Amino acid sequence: MTASALQIEDLRIEARLADDTLVLVDGLDLELAPGEIVGVVGESGSGKTTLVRSLIGLLDKNVTVARGAVRVGGEQVLAPGRDTTASVRGGAIGTVFQDASRSLNPVLKVRAQLRELLKAHKRGISKGEAEERMRTVLRRMQIDDPERVLGSYPHQLSGGQRQRVAIALAVVSEPQIVLADECTTALDVTTQAEVVALFRELVAELGVALVFVTHDLLLAADLCDRVVVMYGGQAAEIGPTRRVLLDPRHPYSAGLLAAVPSWSADGPIRGIEGSAPRVTGAFTGCRFADRCPRATEECRAAAIPWSGGGERDGYRCIHPLSPATAPGASPGGPPVTV
Ligand SMILES: Nc1ncnc2c1ncn2[C@@H]1O[C@H](COP(=O)(O)OP(=O)(O)OP(=O)(O)O)[C@@H](O)[C@H]1O
Ligand code: SF4
Ligand SMILES: [Mg+2]
Repeated sequence: MTASALQIEDLRIEARLADDTLVLVDGLDLELAPGEIVGVVGESGSGKTTLVRSLIGLLDKNVTVARGAVRVGGEQVLAPGRDTTASVRGGAIGTVFQDASRSLNPVLKVRAQLRELLKAHKRGISKGEAEERMRTVLRRMQIDDPERVLGSYPHQLSGGQRQRVAIALAVVSEPQIVLADECTTALDVTTQAEVVALFRELVAELGVALVFVTHDLLLAADLCDRVVVMYGGQAAEIGPTRRVLLDPRHPYSAGLLAAVPSWSADGPIRGIEGSAPRVTGAFTGCRFADRCPRATEECRAAAIPWSGGGERDGYRCIHPLSPATAPGASPGGPPVTV
């Protein structure tokens, strides 16, 4: 059996405040095989970026891992009191953020930035090999004049080119995993489609595992093998993209789908009223209860267990939607090409 590229087990991340402790991520289990694309979706504040930042050791000072573990290529890199993620950042794990300027150094030319990463993570690579590798990776990003781009500062490139260079930086060291956090959100629709096509090719050619964080459910439907729907720091639902979108079991997943205009073409478009709760250590019950049309007293009484077909396909709800009532199953939805 192929080893997992990434294994997250029962991860809990907390933030210490002056008077309280907030739970930012809780009980998250997720495993990615090489070459698998997993989308992480959910509204603002659901913990997506906190999850991504924990995997590369970029958590804020007041934020810690309280429980669980993360393994990269079978090796533990994160657990309470243990953080060796710096050893995989830029090497086994490449990251692309929404804003290319967070990935790029404004005062260094592209060549120097790529070379720095190769020196750190591909020890012993000769200057000639490094030059060849940099050109190859830029060509793979569909940059047809790699020489000009290598000699440019980030501000001399267009927004689309900057994001391609940011992806080149994420993959130049041949990572096992790429984390992409809202990296297409700031791009126009055409460039967005090109970047998504690039990711698809990268995964097919290099066999990397891709974690693709997005607000855009339709983009996730187009690109991802599986999706994780996050709510209030927990996975509300995880499953093969097609299953989650056409047959959501968690009321929150169904609510997200009903809020997508083209998905709800034959029905009313509804946002989900209210906002996510502030989750402290003392929180009990379902995090979605205050906004959920199916909530009962039982939902508020105790933590909600995970149900369904295991951690690769399941949901956290005690009154799940049945396939017959799931709005995503309505014929109004666009075809899903996964
Ligand atoms: N250092 C911190 N201290 C306290 N709370 C924090 C800290 N960092 C993040 N949070 C809170 O954690 C929650 C999750 O934030 P996060 O940025 O991970 O969400 P997100 O899903 O990425 O949202 P978005 O879609 O807006 O990017 C938010 O409520 C945020 O305010
Ligand atoms: S457990 Fe209850 S409150 Fe939570 S999503 Fe399911 S039905 Fe709604
Ligand atoms: Mg975020």
